[in-house]
Amino acid sequence: MPNPEDRGVPPYDFAVIGSGLAGLTLALHLARHGEVALLAKAGLSDGSSVYAQGGIAAVLDPDDSFAAHIQDTLNAGAGLCREEAVRFVVERAPQAIQWLIDQGVPFTAHDGRYHLTREGGHGQRRVIHAADTTGRAVVTVLAAQVRAHPRIHVFEDHLAVDVVTSYKLGRPGPNRCLGLYALSKKTSAVTAFPARLTALATGGASKAYLYSSNPDTSTGDGISMAWRAGCRTANLEFVQFHPTCLYHPQAKSFLISEAVRGEGGVLLLPDGTRFMPHYDARAELAPRDIVARAIDSEMKRLGLDAVGLDISHKGADFIKTHFPNIYERCLGYGYDMAKGPIPVVPAAHYTCGGVLTDLQGRTDLPGLYAIGECAYTGLHGANRLASNSLLECLVLGRAAADDAIARVGYTSPPGPLPAWDESRVTDADEAVVVSHNWEELRRFMWDYVGIVRTNKRLERALHRVTLLAQEIQEYYANFRISNDLIELRNLVQVAELIIRSAQARTESRGLHYSRDYPQPDTGRPARDTILTPGHYAQSAEPPGEHWT
Ligand code: FAD
Ligand code: SIN
Repeated sequence: MPNPEDRGVPPYDFAVIGSGLAGLTLALHLARHGEVALLAKAGLSDGSSVYAQGGIAAVLDPDDSFAAHIQDTLNAGAGLCREEAVRFVVERAPQAIQWLIDQGVPFTAHDGRYHLTREGGHGQRRVIHAADTTGRAVVTVLAAQVRAHPRIHVFEDHLAVDVVTSYKLGRPGPNRCLGLYALSKKTSAVTAFPARLTALATGGASKAYLYSSNPDTSTGDGISMAWRAGCRTANLEFVQFHPTCLYHPQAKSFLISEAVRGEGGVLLLPDGTRFMPHYDARAELAPRDIVARAIDSEMKRLGLDAVGLDISHKGADFIKTHFPNIYERCLGYGYDMAKGPIPVVPAAHYTCGGVLTDLQGRTDLPGLYAIGECAYTGLHGANRLASNSLLECLVLGRAAADDAIARVGYTSPPGPLPAWDESRVTDADEAVVVSHNWEELRRFMWDYVGIVRTNKRLERALHRVTLLAQEIQEYYANFRISNDLIELRNLVQVAELIIRSAQARTESRGLHYSRDYPQPDTGRPARDTILTPGHYAQSAEPPGEHWT
């Protein structure tokens, strides 16, 4: 393969944008059948996946059942899960875990069996894990295989800017995806990557919020690219706030796994009172929306900076064995979990909505798949059940690969793509505008589109995001692109979609809580919020049906 820094790389069979668990899984399956370009805007292992702590949900205990995992997922999803999607994913979970074991992932064992931990919303111990660094264990093994694979061509520090459609290029015939343009962060060159089939595996958009458990890569790029290419989005109002991130100025994004509560951790007020039993019979193991809202409410009621999470009663040995990484990190910040409560706050954690896809990962645009956190398959509904996300990456990564492999043989090559046009742009003169806009966006999303919403706050947020979008569009049209500008452009786009989706939901359900509509709307069947590019209208046609 020639160096893609030379303009005009040869067409690939498959281009995969993103190297989290979704992208790595997809690339490894696809590579059995063709040449794969795998792009990552940072290093191969950067993304949310590597930070995953708790584990992966799957029915592995003889006393557990698919029916129980399905029911727990539906309960968390608050009436909006697509049951077919839940069944599809849950039933393929044991096979997906076996695949990881076969690749060499060292899951934690105890008494000759894999240890299963427990998390909120699960009625059973069902979460397989590698101590408290499951993501690192999985990504390390898969990334090594990807690097060694002769048919996978890895492009790190390559930021996909947009996917290319035949419609945008004015080519005849039905619209389809022809590949993408990517910015090399090392050379600042923009290169075309033509591909027969392209997949978005770009993760979520939690960096739209001031406080987030996510790494810097979660800027909603895939959702925004798909939207610009004409794809619908679904249920983006459902932003999951994880109840427990460590509260410390230097540890803004350090998560304290839900497994800490699963193994007996309790939430406390400063005077030592446990408050969760007053909010829900499941107490600390209620689904995340309930726990995060309860913490938010107690913090506001008492004017607190944080609440306490205490697992010290389990003893130092237990804590160090089950949570070695969390224990060490907390110690580094001056908190000894074995001795008393640690301060925690909620933070934006997971984008439940995303690009609308079917169960093969197909979007509205033929030739373009979306999988993992950037997609909406219907698995999560109005609230994702803990540890169902890594599972979705594995199952949909495999399903999309099977579909792509079956159709690549009769998908014609995309032909050469035109070089990126920079003839009308100059270097930006005020880079500070980008960083200020970024700050502003994340702050008003936190204040106005957070755990508790109102009509007035959403209106304010929409007004501000519209102004930002205009400013950024002007910037994009006139100046040479940079990583920060592209990420901000994408985040602003996704923020607008989140706000519009939230405005369309005139009820409280799952993760969307509005003071103006505090109850679920029981007067009509639960409905998805589907946004369509151009007119923000609703449409019911399933994606993928018009793929030829
Ligand atoms: P990611 O892993 O985020 O990967 C996205 C990839 O896309 C990255 O490689 C990134 O560089 C790349 N990318 C993005 N935009 C571009 C672009 N424009 N061009 C090129 N590349 C791009 N879920 C569970 O099920 N269990 C857990 O225990 C768990 N723990 C978690 C703990 C933390 C701290 C966090 C943040 C999340 C956790 N989650 C957990 C959620 C889960 O980790 C994520 O939802 C999941 O890893 C998403 O995988 P992904 O492959 O879709 O995206
Ligand atoms: C955690 O370990 O609490 C994160 C689990 C998840 O997000 O699914």
